[in-house]
Amino acid sequence: MTWGHPRVPHGQSILSVSQYGRTAVEDLFDVIDRKDWGDCTGKIIANLFYEPSTRTSSSFHAAMLKLGGNVIPINEVTYSSVSKGETLEDTIRTLGCYVDAIVLRHPDDDAALVAHKVSSVPIVNAGCGSGEHPTQALLDLYTIYKENHTIDGLTVTLMGDLRYGRTVHSLVQLLGYFNVKIQFVSPPDLRIPGKYAKMGTIVELNDVLSTTDVLYLTRVQKERHTDHASIFEPLEADYAAAPFSYGITEEHMASAKRGLTLMHPLPRLSEIPKEIDSDPRAAYFRQVRYGLDVRMALLSGILQED
Ligand code: NCD
Repeated sequence: MTWGHPRVPHGQSILSVSQYGRTAVEDLFDVIDRKDWGDCTGKIIANLFYEPSTRTSSSFHAAMLKLGGNVIPINEVTYSSVSKGETLEDTIRTLGCYVDAIVLRHPDDDAALVAHKVSSVPIVNAGCGSGEHPTQALLDLYTIYKENHTIDGLTVTLMGDLRYGRTVHSLVQLLGYFNVKIQFVSPPDLRIPGKYAKMGTIVELNDVLSTTDVLYLTRVQKERHTDHASIFEPLEADYAAAPFSYGITEEHMASAKRGLTLMHPLPRLSEIPKEIDSDPRAAYFRQVRYGLDVRMALLSGILQED
């Protein structure tokens, strides 16, 4: 392994993109481009998912199998001791006796940090609450780089539920390491939190479509709106009545750049109609595929012996 940048040492948990700097990101992308990951034969990870997942859990699983290792999938915690009332800390301490790393998804923003503090093995944050989703953001940024052959100089428009979307919260920090113009499009109640807002400009989609290089959409994070029913309900009503008012249409695509990269972390709901899937600018399924390579590199990086 060659990509062990001082800010991301081997054996270290991946909790937040703030661990990465531009050099660490560039080193990682170089490893991925060269598919220069090591063998993980004999290594085991646990996929500990307290929330639903299709792509993230199966891509970590597939990545580990392709690296020669094994996976203990705990995708339905209701069948584990969690349903008996076991704390996250005790579950982490227990799994650490069996595995070499734990991939964790959890509804609490600070769960990855809580787990890291008691864990004898690295923790990989696979999306915690509305906080961060660092490996998704790394694969999002890698997609931007592969589709555009650069990151510097691009105009990136992030659109949707920017308030609760954890992928956006991580991606905006990574974009900040590069020379990128960042723009935010969202309903007023779903604006990007203040600490990230200063990194970009709030705009209207129609004003920026013709100059946007990368358009990154997200769904309404309905599960995060439970304490804020008054915020979500009117939006949900809008969403059902006029499903594309929140998303994009074929007419939008007609006014967008010929070289646009249209991205979405998935799952998408009606914010991208399926008619757009055949547009070569629709990159969201290529994004999924890039994610497998990114996770192979990340797992190999934290599991390889020095
Ligand atoms: C995202 C997540 O879980 O935050 N999904 C994913 O990991 N690809 C986005 C979402 O659920 O909307």
